[in-house]
Amino acid sequence: MITNTLQVQNNDTEIQGIQLTELVKEYGSPLYVYDAESIESQYKKLIGAFHNTNIRIKYATKALSNISVLKYMKKIGIGLDVVSIEELKIGIKAGYDAKEIMYTPSCVDFQEIEEVIALGATLNIDSIPFVEKFGKTYGGTIPLCIRINPHVEAGGNHKIKTGHIESKFGISIDQLDQVYDLVNKFGIDMAGIHVHTGSDFGDIDVFLKVAEVMYGVAMNFKNLKFLDFGSGFKVSYKQGDKETNIEELGSKMSVSFANFCQKYGKKLDLWFEPGKYLVSKSGYLLATATVIKQTPATTFIGLNTGLNHLIRPMMYESYHEIVNISNPDGEKKKYSVVGYICETDTFAWEREMNETKEGDIIVFKNAGAYGFSMSSNYNSRIRPAEVLVHKGKAILIRKRETLDDILKNQIEVNF
Ligand code: LLP
Repeated sequence: MITNTLQVQNNDTEIQGIQLTELVKEYGSPLYVYDAESIESQYKKLIGAFHNTNIRIKYATKALSNISVLKYMKKIGIGLDVVSIEELKIGIKAGYDAKEIMYTPSCVDFQEIEEVIALGATLNIDSIPFVEKFGKTYGGTIPLCIRINPHVEAGGNHKIKTGHIESKFGISIDQLDQVYDLVNKFGIDMAGIHVHTGSDFGDIDVFLKVAEVMYGVAMNFKNLKFLDFGSGFKVSYKQGDKETNIEELGSKMSVSFANFCQKYGKKLDLWFEPGKYLVSKSGYLLATATVIKQTPATTFIGLNTGLNHLIRPMMYESYHEIVNISNPDGEKKKYSVVGYICETDTFAWEREMNETKEGDIIVFKNAGAYGFSMSSNYNSRIRPAEVLVHKGKAILIRKRETLDDILKNQIEVNF
């Protein structure tokens, strides 16, 4: 096990004083590495920004769902938001009481909802047919949350906008009369209302505008316990990116929420469900340069990883800082960084980087959220190991896969 005894700040080449190149020596590459301290400090910054507010953070498990990361979240006081029964079961296995877990599915079988209710998670429903099924089956015996679609367009990329009128998510604010009728008809116990407008928008005015919509809806339900505002916090992927100003958001929302609670006549809990905000910058993907390939168009750095391990650049045209940590003082040159997958998998085009040669260790920053959790075995490639750095110690939290993992559910037929 690699341990650091010094108190050292993180930079591109180390986490809590542990050299990233040492981690590659010990665990190989490609490798995902997460910094537990970064998660905790993001959490503290977030809750510290709200005043006189019962704020509860439900981490969006889908961003990074390793069971040890969930256990760490639990240890530092963070609840969970899950989107599948599998995530729920991992959360419970990580030690969570199901009651601390918000389950926000989309288009699942109603049978899954019944199983989730049996496990005891907080249920968030986002369609009218399911509110009706729920009412018929459970009446007022189980508390319910519903997801609202506020018809607000926000998000870092079209694929991650969820609150606009064409989105499959939520119950449209124009269709809520049907919900009010069903709630009255079946005596449904409405515990909360939820909204998640999109990922990576950051604009405080959007949060405040959506909050006003939520306050209006909330007045139609008498016994709410919480309002869940989802997420959308923007993190900085590159220099100059405007992050969500958490302090400003916290102080403005604390006031608007307090005003609402006064009108409502009761102090409710205010929930958020950040994924990226908590884990994006905690994570690094470390890879090795396999080839430097000069072509008439560019100089490629080929890597021993690809879109199978980090799909965000190809899926959302997202930007990740890429650093050659083997040659920190190297001369700056332009490279195009690509993966080993047999289709175009470009991580960066004509990016300025330190001079790179075969065998150098290349680091992708901000890879904690939707990195490993969106990885696959495309091209029958195995997935990387994962390491968590906690209190100056590197802890292996997932073994590197082997070919056996790829073959284990395949059934060989001999013809
Ligand atoms: N709550 C709900 C209901 C969500 O659907 C999501 C993300 C979150 C919370 C957390 O959002 P965040 O804090 O991470 O922005 N794979 C994409 C992001 C998809 C987000 C899906 N929903 C990406 O890599 O950018």
